[in-house]
Amino acid sequence: MNLILMGPPGAGKGTQADLLVKRFGIPHVSTGDMFREAIKNGTALGLKAKSFMDAGGLVPDEVTIGIVRERLQKEDCRPGFLLDGFPRTAVQAEALRQLLDDLGIKLDAVVDIKVNRENLVKRLSGRLVCRQCGFTYNTETSPPARVGVCDRCQGEVYQRSDDVGSTVEKRLSVYEEQTAPLVDYYAKAGLLKNIDGEQEVDKVFADIMQALPVV
Ligand code: AP5
Ligand code: MG
Ligand code: ZN
Repeated sequence: MNLILMGPPGAGKGTQADLLVKRFGIPHVSTGDMFREAIKNGTALGLKAKSFMDAGGLVPDEVTIGIVRERLQKEDCRPGFLLDGFPRTAVQAEALRQLLDDLGIKLDAVVDIKVNRENLVKRLSGRLVCRQCGFTYNTETSPPARVGVCDRCQGEVYQRSDDVGSTVEKRLSVYEEQTAPLVDYYAKAGLLKNIDGEQEVDKVFADIMQALPVV
């Protein structure tokens, strides 16, 4: 299964990706997670990405396309992959089309998760993430049992540096300007599956499973 998960910041891409990759046994290719890992490890990639991310903007296309190209050519992506947060610009979508063509890979579906802006802001400002296992919580709707400690692995639970103040608004605007137009691009390609992301996590997952083609 070769999938793209689209949707604005806070739509639940990461949350659904966790469930989907378990179900299909495919790798979760999240450019945001790759950048955060690079920042944590202090690599050159991390240094390049950090200022763009903290400002709520996009990391330059050539950097982002480069890491995805490398990642999709790894052996573990042979049985399929789940792209989360890529492509995000028209240039990235075109580069992905070219890359998949070169590799002889066909996309099976592009899942677009829709959530209204007010809820997105609420979700992002309440989000907490485990530093160790990456599991996502929400202070309002699904807090960890002990403050600051992950239920699953006892790791430290923290707030992403781009989930604060005006950065959230900035990310939502960047999404509207640069990424939302891609929904149309994939609709025209006949790949788009529209999903109502305002429902409970399990129901969103069930709707995605139902929308996916049998492969
Ligand atoms: P990235 O990490 O991709 O962030 P994002 O797209 O802004 O999306 P999020 O991770 O914030 O939200 P999500 O949809 O995964 O929601 P989640 O499941 O966590 O990118 C970060 C940055 O990296 C970018 O701003 C950019 O700078 C850079 N970058 C990344 N990719 C790039 C690219 N291709 N090009 C250039 N730059 C790039 O859920 C959110 C919250 O809601 C959680 O608290 C969760 O518990 C809760 N929640 C989830 N589902 C539900 C539900 N159904 N009901 C109620 N609450 C829910
Ligand atoms: Mg995410
Ligand atoms: Zn954890």
